[in-house]
Order: sequence, then structure tokens, then C-alpha cells
Amino acid sequence: SDSGDSAKKETLIMATNAEFPPYEFHEGDEVVGIDADIAAAVAEELGMELKIEDMAFDSIITAVNSGKADIGAAGMTVTEDRLENVDFTDTYATATQVIIVKEDSAITGPDDLAGKKIGVQLGTTGDLYADDIEDAEVERYNKGFEAVQAVQQGKIDAVVIDGEPAKEFVKDAEGLKILDEAFTEEEYAIAVKKGNDELKENINKALATLKDSGKLDEIVAKYISA
Ligand code: ARG
Repeated sequence: SDSGDSAKKETLIMATNAEFPPYEFHEGDEVVGIDADIAAAVAEELGMELKIEDMAFDSIITAVNSGKADIGAAGMTVTEDRLENVDFTDTYATATQVIIVKEDSAITGPDDLAGKKIGVQLGTTGDLYADDIEDAEVERYNKGFEAVQAVQQGKIDAVVIDGEPAKEFVKDAEGLKILDEAFTEEEYAIAVKKGNDELKENINKALATLKDSGKLDEIVAKYISA
């Protein structure tokens, strides 16, 4: 391979929202996590240099669409709506939406959420689900952890959020629990600009290589203990 100093690598710009541990979060000045590591490994496969741009979650698709970023990697669930604006690579993880409540809450599952005050991260699939719940009042936060703090402070009744960040957040906030009964299963994938088939195919090849070599599992295991 060409590793001479003169070969300046092309940059792969990743848009993310680093408020979503263990997928992306801040460690000092750096954005780290499963998505950051996967994107770095993909970039390496493509002979490119990864650059991460941290932004609001609901700006990521626009960034990818406008070419401001090449990829969106943010624990982003593949949805019909999003597929109208971006293309997605093959999926690299499955996830569930879970409910976080106070330890002494009477809420035991999705059916108890009707008419309740529900916190979500703005623009996420949790936001969509909460919006569908009968008579629910949806409070939208810029960061998932802010919603978790609000339920802890008794400002809202529950939070609907992805399972892995839920575990991380509940670990850091006393008096909360995650309900056993979860919402639907979802799939995470990397977003690319609509019609950018070349990049999409190259990323899919890289992802397949990382799956086959065990590197993907290794990255996940670094951040999620089984
Ligand atoms: N999986 C959810 C979605 O796609 C939440 C993702 C939030 N990601 C983030 N980096 N904040 O809507």
C-alpha cells in the first residue's frame, strides 16, 4: 500500500451528535465511542483520514445532504422518512427503544405512557414514538441526558431512548430504572448522501471486512461489556 508521506489522504467527514454513549461521547476534546471507532476503521479500509464534526442530532441529515459531511454516524436508526432524504449503508447494530422511569414509578410498560409527560432527544425515533402515544405531552431536549435529569428531578414521568445510552445514563443518575418491556427493535446504519452509491458500496465492503475479521465485535466489546 502507498504510505509515503507525499500521499495526502482524502478526508472522510463524519457528522455525529456526541451525546450518545457508548456510540459517541466526549472524552476531553475528543469524540470517542463505537461509531467513532467504526468510522475510523472504515476510513482506514478506504485509505482515508477520518474527521469528526459534532453537531445537533437533527442537523446530521442536512449536513450529509448538503455535502458538509460525507457520512452521518450517530447510532442512527434506518427509517422510511430518513430514507427519503439520505441513503443508508448496511446495518452495523440493532437496538431497542426503552423507557426510563423513577425507581418508584407506577409506569411498567409502553401502555402506561398514555397521558404522561415523556422526555426525548429532539428528532430521534424516541421522539417519534412518544409523539404517537395518546394524550402524551412530549418534552424535547437537545441532549438525551437532559431528559434523564428531568425525569430524575420529577419534571417529567418517563424518557424514551435507545437501550445502550439508557444504561449509561441510568448508571450516572441515581434513583432511576429501565423498564424490561421495550419498544420496537431498530437497526443502526451509516447515512450517505442520496445517490452516492460509490461511497455507500465502499463502506459496505469495509463493514463486511470488519465484520468478517472480528474487528467490529472487538470495537463493540471495548465499549459494551456483555
Ligand atoms: N437511534 C435514534 C435515532 O436514530 C437515536 C439516535 C441518537 N443519536 C445521537 N448520536 N444522539 O433517532
